[in-house]
Amino acid sequence: MPDSIKRAVDVLRAGGLVAMPTETVYGLAADANNVSAINKIFSSKGRPSGHPLIVHIAQPHLSLSNDQEVASNAWREILSQWSRDVSPEALILAHAFWPGPLTMILPKAKNVLLEVTGGQETVGVRCPKHPVAQHLLKEFGGGLAAPSANRFGRISPTTAEHVREEFPGDEVLVLDGGPCDVGIESTIVDLTRLDTHGAIILRPGAITQTMIDQVLGKNEVTDGVTAKTGSAPRVSGSLSAHYAPKTKLVLYDAKDTQSVLAILAKVNNSDLKNIAWVHFSKDLLANELGLKNVAKEVLLPLESKAVARELYALLRQLDALKVDCIFFEQLPDGLEWDAIRDRLGRASVGSGV
Ligand code: TXA
Ligand code: MG
Repeated sequence: MPDSIKRAVDVLRAGGLVAMPTETVYGLAADANNVSAINKIFSSKGRPSGHPLIVHIAQPHLSLSNDQEVASNAWREILSQWSRDVSPEALILAHAFWPGPLTMILPKAKNVLLEVTGGQETVGVRCPKHPVAQHLLKEFGGGLAAPSANRFGRISPTTAEHVREEFPGDEVLVLDGGPCDVGIESTIVDLTRLDTHGAIILRPGAITQTMIDQVLGKNEVTDGVTAKTGSAPRVSGSLSAHYAPKTKLVLYDAKDTQSVLAILAKVNNSDLKNIAWVHFSKDLLANELGLKNVAKEVLLPLESKAVARELYALLRQLDALKVDCIFFEQLPDGLEWDAIRDRLGRASVGSGV
């Protein structure tokens, strides 16, 4: 076992915190069965208690079996440690998408700490794909509760360096697994109300509704935003001001001449002397803006996976420039952009405070 993993396991066993690379974003991990370790997560992040944490689990060895029944049994066995009622749908999704960027909300098992679930009778479980996360989970031998490794309300970290910026002291041991491949947080699907609502997506991510539809069969999935779900699900990522840079972030529609002209007026009147500008196309703004007040221009590719991978690092970089405002062209239409649209919308609402 590499020294870094061994040290991390020691820290976790002693009730400490480890920043763990995953394929989505870095997580701030602690032993999911240790109340005082869990409390450290909340105090370090500045996260209000009552916000539930995702439990990360190792991939069971037999889940790789070609025999579907053997694989399902392996997932059932490990999921039963966390959930009192593992539905066939949960096993189908685990088989299809784990390890990977999908979190399932399940009825919690009795032993799961209420400190982890935010006092709820449900638990979020994810089997991450990143090899360092898997290595750590296997050597640790238990579940790791881990929110994104950022201070509450701020941008999720996608490199080890970002984590060190968030937690500059020595309270967190940072495992460096390189930049995260997906770049935005996992899809969260609620499987606790299957009978009445089907599978409900609470937070969009790289695993899309269509992908879940395909493996569960049509009409199983309901969009959490539009579903009549009764009481609102408790997802802190669903607070509108989340994932936010400190600099004001304004989304504009390049096809909407009025909104472009409003930006130009502000820049030309020198209300905004120093701006950053992120866009996909050479549009009206490009023709008119000139470069005099643009401290930084970024042209993004029309490729959703690449934009997701880079988004949070870009927002951090632009935030550090301390410009007056970030103008960001709205994302293209299409399902593959929805998860990024969700994060960017929240970033815009929470920005500038
Ligand atoms: O990709 C990810 O999911 C990353 C990596 C580290 O795995 N984790 C992450 O954790 O984004 P966090 O805590 O920043 O966001 C998890 C979201 C929270 O908004 C929380 O409210 C929701 O998952 N969640 C966790 N357990 C839940 C539950 N039992 N019911 C409803 N929502 C839950
Ligand atoms: Mg988070």
